[in-house]
Amino acid sequence: MFAATPIHADSKAGFYAELATQARGLLHGERDRIANAANFSALVWHALSDINWCGFYFFDGHELVVGPFQGKPACVRIALGRGVCGTAAQTRETQRVEDVNAFDGHIACDGASRSEIVVPLLDRHGALIGVWDVDSPSLARFDEDDRRGMEALCAVYVDAWHGDAAVI
Ligand code: SME
Repeated sequence: MFAATPIHADSKAGFYAELATQARGLLHGERDRIANAANFSALVWHALSDINWCGFYFFDGHELVVGPFQGKPACVRIALGRGVCGTAAQTRETQRVEDVNAFDGHIACDGASRSEIVVPLLDRHGALIGVWDVDSPSLARFDEDDRRGMEALCAVYVDAWHGDAAVI
């Protein structure tokens, strides 16, 4: 049984380092990409405070399609370049949105969302896997420390995608 230990850290960097260690342990030895995405979402959902949605959109070669997530049911398909997710996928850069209502083209799946961070997921050959999306009911929930931490966390998922989420 996996036991997610509550994280007590002095800094966000410390928090995300511990969360990444837990994620590596959770995904270790499992290559199934959907199973790993589901467990990754559940881990983050229970670890992060003040969020109302977290999960994956996978690129099917044409558009983004919702994958495993936690939170309310979400929009299924998002075209590249549309919304925060489609923008992250198209630009291949993390989108950190402090106020979703100020983001032109934001797609409101859960009306409670006020801020959002979306990390593009690229494999080792640079191909687009999809995006990792986290929403919060609070304005400006995610700062640069969250961006760095969330990108490092996503690297654990991508490592497992390649079949080598080593426990370190
Ligand atoms: N808000 C996202 C859509 C996905 S939901 O937040 C789950 C966007 O604008 O792309």
